[in-house]
Amino acid sequence: MEHRRPSGLESDAAVQQTSDDAAVSRESAARLGYIADPFIKHFIKHPQRRAPLINRGTYCRFHGIQRVLREFVAAALQPRVQCVVLGAGLDTSFFLLSPNLRYFEVDFADITAKKAQMVWRKGALRERLPEDTRVVGAELHSETYNLIAGDLREFPSVMARLQERGFDCEAPTLFVSECVLVYLDPVCSDAILDWITTNVPRAGVVTYEQIRPDDRFGQMMIGNLRARGLELRGLLAYPTLESTKNRFLTRGWRVARAVDLAEYHDHCVDKRELDRLAALELLDEWEEFRLLAQHYAFTFAYTADSLPFSSIHFP
Ligand SMILES: C[S@@+](CC[C@H](N)C(=O)[O-])C[C@H]1O[C@@H](n2cnc3c(N)ncnc32)[C@H](O)[C@@H]1O
Repeated sequence: MEHRRPSGLESDAAVQQTSDDAAVSRESAARLGYIADPFIKHFIKHPQRRAPLINRGTYCRFHGIQRVLREFVAAALQPRVQCVVLGAGLDTSFFLLSPNLRYFEVDFADITAKKAQMVWRKGALRERLPEDTRVVGAELHSETYNLIAGDLREFPSVMARLQERGFDCEAPTLFVSECVLVYLDPVCSDAILDWITTNVPRAGVVTYEQIRPDDRFGQMMIGNLRARGLELRGLLAYPTLESTKNRFLTRGWRVARAVDLAEYHDHCVDKRELDRLAALELLDEWEEFRLLAQHYAFTFAYTADSLPFSSIHFP
């Protein structure tokens, strides 16, 4: 079927909508006991039960990102370390971790305004905020936690805003990007990585994105998203694990590792955890799960061989 190419504004609205999709999947996995996230339900108006293979994928996605975040928070005992979540959507990691470090979340103003209001109105979320938190327009501000409105395609101005809120280019910084860079034109997402390489000497990045556009499943994935007005703009530029890794290494990052979700599921999740998941719900579409999981990948990269990044254990 032919699809009309959406205009810029339509496609921005479609991309923003993906934050709800991610949150609904996370809530489904939390409610069924796959993941421990008591906060995500506060962001969901209409919960939906996802299929077992989606819940298992969400488990792996959550497990991989939380693992890096937790190891970073644990290793980052020095003051002045910081974390920046790009395209944070309705991500609950800040509420789960209560990290004792500077923590920034960035998304379009429509999303941050919605998130700021939801957090402010829900006692269970509000009480996790630092005491000095204020709502400022579409944003939340405090000394340590800041939810900032901005368009990542204009990254230098987004980072200027973060610097006004205390971002320190010299501090060790973990950037998190979960299904975000792939929606940007690769010229823009490369510019983000280049800005980080140039300006933040001690940086780490963890990403989770789609890969392998060329096979039948990849084509179906692209077609399904296109039908909703969503373009995976970065996918053709970085279609494989190798190209994703090289993207970092050729830009001067010291270490880059990439693993697809199927490999992560089989080799990085504890056997006892897999037994626990099997008892939650029957997964009999193993072939479909493997196909799906082969089309998503984590990448973990860092620019300097220094703490806390070199101590993070990632496959
Ligand atoms: C698939 S959602 C993921 C949300 C969150 N990272 C998670 O995993 O739950 C993608 C998010 O990236 C945000 N995003 C995409 N392009 C962006 C841009 N140019 N500027 C700011 N945010 C953007 C969207 O608004 C959306 O919240």
